[in-house]
Amino acid sequence: MRDLLSVNDLSKSDVEKIFKLTDKLKNKQTSYLKGKNIVLIFQKASTRTRVSFTVAINQMGGNAIVLNWNELQLGRGETIEDTARVLEGYGDAIIARVFSQNDLVRIAKVSKEPVINALSDLEHPCQAIADLYTIKQKKKRLKGLKIVFLGDGANNTFHSLIMLCQIFGVRTIASCPKKYRPKIKGKYRIIEDPKKAVKDADVLYTDTFVSMGEEAEQAKRLRDLRKYQLNSDLVKLAKKDAIVLHPLPAHRNVEITDNVIDGKHSVVWNQAENRLHTEKAILKLLIK
Ligand code: CP
Ligand code: NVA
Repeated sequence: MRDLLSVNDLSKSDVEKIFKLTDKLKNKQTSYLKGKNIVLIFQKASTRTRVSFTVAINQMGGNAIVLNWNELQLGRGETIEDTARVLEGYGDAIIARVFSQNDLVRIAKVSKEPVINALSDLEHPCQAIADLYTIKQKKKRLKGLKIVFLGDGANNTFHSLIMLCQIFGVRTIASCPKKYRPKIKGKYRIIEDPKKAVKDADVLYTDTFVSMGEEAEQAKRLRDLRKYQLNSDLVKLAKKDAIVLHPLPAHRNVEITDNVIDGKHSVVWNQAENRLHTEKAILKLLIK
């Protein structure tokens, strides 16, 4: 693996290596990235990704340079290729959060250094890796589990999750209206009725109904997706020991209710912390 632009870049053995390395590096200070400078570029807002990668790099002895798209000359029209060519000359990896997945492909095309997708409109591979790691941590297995995603099935986080679940034999159900079906190829079933979908689920997952960049459609999306809210009535229909995940930021009492995100089934805080642990493994694997 040279870059991590998509879950498609990962083999099963890459992910297994990431999980093993995560266990090894968790809570450890190392010097694997000593003398390395890693550039992070954000075209969209971020709390977890920005901070977890920065802390991961620091804990591995490296230096993180965190930049917003608009404070770079990119914001004034310098091309992505020219920017990437300069940055890869200074640094040892580029981590970017962008709107268009194709912008990541353009960066990777000119960069000899590894490029990592920190979220695009299409995918969020680092999130999916932390999600699967969390599920494995809690359930002690992956194969045969049933995960049900509720809400906007055409979103970045779920796209990456579908692909990763497929690699590990996790049965994936999307519960969403027709217009909100996933936009990627992959192995999943659609069960539109959320009450039917969550039956016997091991894992319940939701994400915002309005992803970054979709704000103009907010009112319509909230209307269309209202009945997919992850609330205690739905949780009761899943397995007794079902776990609830959300990548965060959550819109409380919109896609998930307070009593579910703060309730006993929720593992969202472990999930968020695992971003840090799994990203250390991703960095170790990619940066030589
Ligand atoms: N889950 C996630 O990527 O969060 P941020 O948008 O805060 O980085
Ligand atoms: N689907 C959300 C994920 C945020 C981490 C978004 O793109 O806004």
